Amino acid sequence: MNLKRMFRKNGTGNDATNGAVIHMNGITKAYNTGKIKVEALRGIDLTVEQGEFVAIVGPSGSGKSTLMNLIGCLDTPTGGEYLLRGEKVSGLGRDQLADIRNRRIGFVFQNFNLLPQITAFENVEMPLLFGGRSRKQRKERVTELMDRVGLADRMRHKPTELSGGEMQRVAIARALAMNPDIVLADEPTGNLDTSSGTDILSLFEELWKQGTTMLIITHDPVMAKRASRTVEIRDGLVN
Ligand SMILES: Nc1ncnc2c1ncn2[C@@H]1O[C@H](COP(=O)(O)OP(=O)(O)OP(=O)(O)O)[C@@H](O)[C@H]1O
Ligand SMILES: [Mg+2]
Repeated sequence: MNLKRMFRKNGTGNDATNGAVIHMNGITKAYNTGKIKVEALRGIDLTVEQGEFVAIVGPSGSGKSTLMNLIGCLDTPTGGEYLLRGEKVSGLGRDQLADIRNRRIGFVFQNFNLLPQITAFENVEMPLLFGGRSRKQRKERVTELMDRVGLADRMRHKPTELSGGEMQRVAIARALAMNPDIVLADEPTGNLDTSSGTDILSLFEELWKQGTTMLIITHDPVMAKRASRTVEIRDGLVN
């Protein structure tokens, strides 16, 4: 089926969710491991508006990463409804979700998740390649992004030739490559020393001021304090 047409058909209605980047209603997620069933999320209602910087906090095992995986279309909910920019994504298949991920979501992980064999430039270029951008467009965009994260002089380095803070900057540049609707970060400063962590936090703040919508899972009270809103998860529910 033609995805664009399908989105137009199912896309933003005239309901109250117009304008929200994320709208979740009664989202549940159960994991079945052998005979044990874990109800990781038990009915999440969450709306994130364009331009918000939301910090997700909560104890270990409360369901934060599970929630991020669902928001990022890396996994599908067991129940409930999820609209991303008004498009219903709960219920879509694997290929459609992959397409949505590449176009609409930028990911930043605790362990950076860069491909080790290729350069910083090529890592940032990856989503643009998948997105069908021309060589010229890719070069322009990657150069602009590497400049924006302060790594214009490190483009030809491989991840192993970069510091942790620099690797995370590359990951942030890659997350921004396709101009996503939202940047999702799971403990982005968890593997960094205090000083690099502060740099990354400043970079996030800068991006936010430039209009990027952000959702960040963090245990760091300093980061949570700088967010425009904090959402606390406890036992699979928004507190
Ligand atoms: N793939 C999986 N299979 C089975 N159970 C899982 C899976 N992923 C997570 N869980 C369980 O779901 C619950 C929520 O896990 P989740 O990783 O979302 O917590 P979290 O809030 O991110 O914790 P942390 O702060 O430690 O990262 C936990 O009880 C966990 O054991
Ligand atoms: Mg987690």
